[in-house]
This record gives sequence, C-alpha cells and structure tokens, in this order.
Amino acid sequence: MSNLHYPDLQVCVLAAGKGKRMRSNLPKVLHKVLGRAMIDHVLHTVEALRPKAIAMVTGHASEMVRAHVGQPVNLDWVIQDKQLGTGHAVKQCEKVIRDVRDVLIVCGDTPLLSVETLARLVDEHRAANTDVTVLTAKPENPFGYGRIVRDGNGNVTSIVEQKDATDEQRLIGEVSSGIYCVRHEVLFDLLHAIGNSNAQEEYYLPDIVPLALHAGQSVAAIAMNDSDEMVGVNDRVDLAHVEGLMQKRIIEEWQRRGVTIEKPDTVRIEAGVKIGIDTVIQAGCYLIGTTHVGDECRVGPNAVLVNAWLDDRVNVFAFSHIHGASVGSDAIIGPYARLRPEAQLDEEVHIGNFVEIKKSVIGRGSKVNHLSYIGDTVMGSACNVGAGTITCNYDGANKFVTEIGNNVFIGSDTQLVAPVKVADDATIGAGSTITRNVAAGGLTLSERNAQKYAAGWKRPQKDRN
Ligand code: UD1
Ligand code: MG
Repeated sequence: MSNLHYPDLQVCVLAAGKGKRMRSNLPKVLHKVLGRAMIDHVLHTVEALRPKAIAMVTGHASEMVRAHVGQPVNLDWVIQDKQLGTGHAVKQCEKVIRDVRDVLIVCGDTPLLSVETLARLVDEHRAANTDVTVLTAKPENPFGYGRIVRDGNGNVTSIVEQKDATDEQRLIGEVSSGIYCVRHEVLFDLLHAIGNSNAQEEYYLPDIVPLALHAGQSVAAIAMNDSDEMVGVNDRVDLAHVEGLMQKRIIEEWQRRGVTIEKPDTVRIEAGVKIGIDTVIQAGCYLIGTTHVGDECRVGPNAVLVNAWLDDRVNVFAFSHIHGASVGSDAIIGPYARLRPEAQLDEEVHIGNFVEIKKSVIGRGSKVNHLSYIGDTVMGSACNVGAGTITCNYDGANKFVTEIGNNVFIGSDTQLVAPVKVADDATIGAGSTITRNVAAGGLTLSERNAQKYAAGWKRPQKDRN
C-alpha cells in the first residue's frame, strides 16, 4: 500500500475511444493484460495517489465499461458522445471538477504506468510552480507518438502528432506520453481555445501547450525514467508486447520477495496472484486470477492454478489443474490431478494421478491416490480411498451427496451411489456397488459372483507358421 495522498488533485482518465485498431467487439480498455482489464490497471494506479476524485471519460460502449468498473465512491462518469479528440474528452470533465489545485490527465490504454512516476510528475510540477507539465519519454521507436518540439534554448514550444509532423519533426526522439499535470485554474480556458484544424480534424489536448505559452503561462516537460511505462496499447500486437513487459515486472517482483521461479520465460503469473516465500514455481506453470500460493510450496512443472488457494508446504506435481479449490498445508496433489470448484482439502491430504474432486470436503490426512471421481462428498479424516472409486452423484437431473466418516477404508473399484452415508471406521470390499448406508466398523461388500476354475483350459495360441 502506498502512503501517498493528494487531496487537492483531480484525475481524468481518457477511455472513450473505440480502439478501432483492436478489431474487437469489446471496448479497448476492457481488454485484459495479465488477467486484469487495462482500465483496472490504470484505476488501481491512480487510486494509489489517493486523489480528491477521478473523472472517467467514456463514450464508445460506455455501458460496458461502467458495468465492468462498478461505482467506486470517488469516481465520476463523464460521457463523451462523439470522440472528437483528447482535448475534447478532457473538456467534458469541466462540470465535475471542483476545488482542486491540479488536474492529472492519463489515458486508459497505458497499463504499465506506475504510481511512482505519476507522483513524481505532480510533485515536480508543484515544486516548480508550473502551469502545464507534460510527461515525456524517449522510446526505442517514437513512431505514432506526439513529438516534443523545443526552441533553441531547449524550451518546449509545442507537441506535434505523427500525422501532422514534418519529416524533420519525425526525427525527434522525445515524445509525449499523453500524460499531463495542469493547474486547474488555467486548464479549461485553454481547452476552450483549442481548434481542430489538423490532419485528424480532432481537438488535440497537446495543443494546450502553445496556447499556454501564448497566454504567458509556464510549460515544462518531465522525462520518464523508464520509457516502457508509457507504452500505449493500440492493437493486439501492442497488447502482447505490454503483457510481456508486465509479466517480466511481476515475475521479478516475486523473485525479489523470495519466490524461486524456474524458466521464468515459460511461466504466467497474473496480476492478482499472491505467492509466499521459499515457494518454487517450476517451468510452464500458469497462476491465474486470484490464486494464492503459501510459503514453501512446490508447484509444477506445467500445473495450472485458477483462483486456487494453496496453504503452506503444498506439493503440486506436474500437469495438475486446480480451479476454484482450496488445499490445506502439507498436502500432495498430482501428478495429473484435477481439483474443481469448491473442492476443499484439509491438511496433509493426498490426491494422486487421474483423480477428479468436485465440490467436496476431504478431511485431514485422507488419501485418494488413483483414478477416482469424488463429487458432492463430505469425507472425514484419515480415510483411504482405493483406485477407481466413483461417487455416483448424478441421476441425469439431480445431484446427491455422499457422506463418509473418519478412518474409512474403501476398496478399489467401488461405486458409492448417492445419497449414501458411510459411518466411521467402516471398510468396504473391493468392487462393491454401495446403494445403502454403511454401518460403522466391520466389512461391507456387495455380493460377488463365485470364482470358478477350469483346470484344462488352454489360451488360444497365435499361428506361428
Ligand atoms: C495520444 C496523444 C499523443 C501521445 C500518445 C501517447 C493526442 C492527440 N495524442 O495519441 O500525443 O504521444 O497518446 O500514447 O492527444 N480518447 C478519448 N476521446 C477521444 C479520443 C481519445 O477518450 O475523442 C482516449 C482514448 O480512448 C485513449 C486516449 O484518449 O485512451 C488516447 O487516444 P488515442 O487515440 O490512443 O491517441 P494516440 O494516437 O495514442
Ligand atoms: Mg493510444
């Protein structure tokens, strides 16, 4: 958590564009980067500044964006009906902004932006008592960005968009990040003065720079330390590029916090994941959504964890798939195990290969080690479930519950036809079909066919001529 606080700062997030270049039914800012919509990354970052309020400008598919974001208390929705440009977009915020010193303008399509960079922009803007401050960068390839034009003394005079730039201006390596901090007192007079006579016939926010200078106001540029932070997503090639940069950042963060990650280039760890110290994540693992992995766990290779909860010292072996399930400490899972939503495993449970567990509680130390399906079941502690055991929980229309007590031993190839209860300490013989409740202790088994013996019988032989 940051301890930043800017009670006299208004943030404007520009997110009205369709993002034509994404070629998508989804508005651009709802596309996900490492499991989190771009707009959520940006909101998360600006909220960490604890500003007075946030104005979110939407237009294209605004209902979808609104439904996704919900209604944070300090957020005002501003509709820009026609996307007439970034300057026009900010102008729509005029009505909702009150009593702040500065307005921080960010774009909804730059998810790598860090709160430290934004705080530095606001702090330096204030320390120098500037009217308009633009955040700039020198990316490897400046193509597509607005170029920062300076005069002979090095002072910023204007920002020229790619499409409006002369060949000479296109050689400029310093570009605008699209992020500005502007004194509230001057911002809207400047915005009302901008026109749209340019290549795109849009009202460009960058045009406030020459207008401010003309009005005798001060303009400054602050350079970003890491130009990767301002990479904007305009198409799906950019999306993959930004995801790669963010993945590297997240993995390095976990490594610094004490997690070992083998072959990090093959691992996906989404933005909402948490991992404890001394845990080892092996090659090819996917940690998705809200997954939590405790301390000293070992996961993989090639395990998939989706919204999973692992307590400490859990071992998840290769090719296991855990989705919406929780696993107690010191448990052993897999290889090739599948835990489905609402599977809840206590401490020291062992789930082995080709076992599927769905919506079931498995008590402490119980073992289901081979080729079984356990669904809609409540199982006590210290049970041993033999290979090929199936809880028959479904009649084609309804689901039924199987209840298994403590210290139960279930022989291989048993079917438990739910609803059915197995009391404590029971033993069930191999190959049983259990349709009625099983009493405590003793041996229960369904009737078996008599075993026969044919002494002189010969197995067919292959003709070897
Ligand atoms: C913009 C800047 C450019 C800067 C670059 C950084 C302008 C004119 N250009 O270019 O100087 O280098 O960002 O990434 O400002 N939007 C609206 N309403 C509109 C138009 C855009 O809300 O009418 C929003 C978009 O949804 C997007 C953001 O503003 O989130 C930027 O728009 P985009 O079209 O991506 O501008 P760029 O061409 O990237
Ligand atoms: Mg853009």
